[in-house]
Amino acid sequence: PTLAVIVVAAGSGTRLGQAEPKAFVEVRGVTILERSLDAVFDASTPAQVIVVAPAAKLASAKSIALRAAGPAAGAVTVVEGGASRQASVAAGLATVLPGVDTVLVHDAARALAPAELFDRVVRQVRSTGRGVIPALPVTDTVKRVADGVVAGTVDRSDLVHVQTPQGFPRAALDHAYAVAAAEHTDDAALFSADGGEVVTVEGDARAFKITTPWDLRRAENVLGVSRG
Ligand code: C5P
Repeated sequence: PTLAVIVVAAGSGTRLGQAEPKAFVEVRGVTILERSLDAVFDASTPAQVIVVAPAAKLASAKSIALRAAGPAAGAVTVVEGGASRQASVAAGLATVLPGVDTVLVHDAARALAPAELFDRVVRQVRSTGRGVIPALPVTDTVKRVADGVVAGTVDRSDLVHVQTPQGFPRAALDHAYAVAAAEHTDDAALFSADGGEVVTVEGDARAFKITTPWDLRRAENVLGVSRG
């Protein structure tokens, strides 16, 4: 394959308040990790799929990934994550095969991101040669607050919420990770810090990140509605 998709699933998910690490929590009977991988394998570009999992969950991640992959099982790699998301992505990046020219990085926690979002990001990376992030407009009014007192209203017209999968030309992403000096909150910030240009594509409401118990209920509800 010329595409690799790194699915980071090595977080503990403390804010979800469950015993299992987040990616191994079920939403309507199917783990968050498997739901994310189903979309990756439903996307139209064949990919090397790299799952980054917690040390204690490597075997479980492997069996989930093989089930999601079906006949594409040969294209699956499972590796152990690191102490931060950035370290986990770096661990995944180290296993990308020669010949891959485009890399997507996806949070397993965005379990309902649809296959078409992966396709949209891949197409845009390949047509622009830049970093690509899915974005949605900010709809709430945003305030700046200091010590509980409102200090001002932020102009939201040029603000967006950013999601994953985020996509990059492979060589430039490798370089950005090799020289990264600080922790960044997403791969696009790390890529920009190395001088890379990043553009947006339209995000998808279904790509919300499952972080809190409320998000888990929302995911259950979305699936309930879409199944009738
Ligand atoms: O904690 P948060 O939900 O922001 O994490 C985003 C994604 O990064 C999750 O899918 C999580 O599993 C992953 N992650 C990781 N390794 C870490 C921390 C987070 O793979 N050390």
